[in-house]
Amino acid sequence: MAEAQQFSAEEFFAQQPPPPQLEQHLEAVQRFVEHNVNQGRRVVLVTSGGTTVPLEHNVVRFLDNFSAGTRGASSAEHFLRSGRYAVIFLHRQHSLQPFSRHYSHSTNPFLDLLDVVSADGSLAGKGKEPERDGGAGDYLFPPIPSMQSPPASPPSTSRPLPSLDVPMPPTAEDGSTIQIRPPHLDPMLSLLRSYKLVKSLGVLHSIPFTTVSEYLWYLRGISRVMGQTKDCEGQALGRRGMYYLAAAVSDFFIPYTKMSEHKIQSGKGSLVIEMDQVPKVLKTMVDEWSNDGFIVSFKLETDPAILIPKARGALERYGHQIVVGNLLDTRKHEVVFVQRAGEEWLRIPADDGGARGAGGEVKEIEEDIIAHLVGLHDRYVDEGRREGPFK
Ligand code: PMT
Repeated sequence: MAEAQQFSAEEFFAQQPPPPQLEQHLEAVQRFVEHNVNQGRRVVLVTSGGTTVPLEHNVVRFLDNFSAGTRGASSAEHFLRSGRYAVIFLHRQHSLQPFSRHYSHSTNPFLDLLDVVSADGSLAGKGKEPERDGGAGDYLFPPIPSMQSPPASPPSTSRPLPSLDVPMPPTAEDGSTIQIRPPHLDPMLSLLRSYKLVKSLGVLHSIPFTTVSEYLWYLRGISRVMGQTKDCEGQALGRRGMYYLAAAVSDFFIPYTKMSEHKIQSGKGSLVIEMDQVPKVLKTMVDEWSNDGFIVSFKLETDPAILIPKARGALERYGHQIVVGNLLDTRKHEVVFVQRAGEEWLRIPADDGGARGAGGEVKEIEEDIIAHLVGLHDRYVDEGRREGPFK
């Protein structure tokens, strides 16, 4: 069996093929950063969710990790709420996203928040047994829309479409409407307003990844674009850029050249996999890509005794500004900010942690994490202006 290897960042990128859409995504990032720096906004790259490690080129199996992307999606929202940051949201495909996360199918399925109001004003499904066909337990549901064939295009003699200045009646053909259950209306409306505003201002740009290799290609590309982009007065984003690295990045991977092309066969009994170490790219990010941006990395541990020493080690080794340490079991209600000058714990009551419901009533630790980091970032930008050191 071949020896496990340790790759430098350069060797990694020389060997791992880039994601197919990389260039298009980076051009879009460039436009996004330019637009926002010219509006006087700072830009933050938020990374979020877990990275996969495929075992085959024609991927049937892969290794994954626990992250649902809660930290990243929630943090992205809080950066947007501050009104001062445009957010590039580099996230694991299908993980939680800012705004829509409040209606996650597992914690708050949106269909349960809606009622069908029939033409006679009654609520469908209230007090009525569903009709059965008497067969093998089938319910006579109407066809599910995505399973119907698309409607044929109307013949030219069909009714003309209503002109745009005539509001369409908010009813279906049978006179039914959909109504949001009253307790959910206000929070949904407020969230929807924020979401529409964010879209209209062009302050959120999302890019999905799946594998650890895609993640690293995007991390490098986006950091370089952020590092190099200048506003219309020729000022680089530089220190006004923030990198908030909350994704759960795999430490090990199988290099492209060592990966099986086809599905690994099961005939030989046990499966032994040897993986190489993913290069630590933070040092290169600090030295070469980010042009003095404010870099926040996260350190996840399960053993409390090593959290702070490991976080401190990362800070020393990579030379960036701050490590946010967290433990798997308590990450929703406590984190520790580790800087060269010392460390500071942030805690919220344990009962208040966790995902926020649609009512928006529960405190999230990310609100306080972002408030703290924005304060530090302010200082970092100011000290850069005076060319002072940041401790
Ligand atoms: O998504 P949630 O369920 O809400 O969970 C959030 C979270 C726990 C995933 C998040 O808060 C978090 O801790 N993210 C970082 C997880 C992680 O990858 O930790 P780690 O200790 O294994 O490695 C991170 C460190 O490795 C970085 O800080 C950096 O020092 C280094 N690194 C990692 C990858 C890489 N390619 N280069 C690096 O330099």
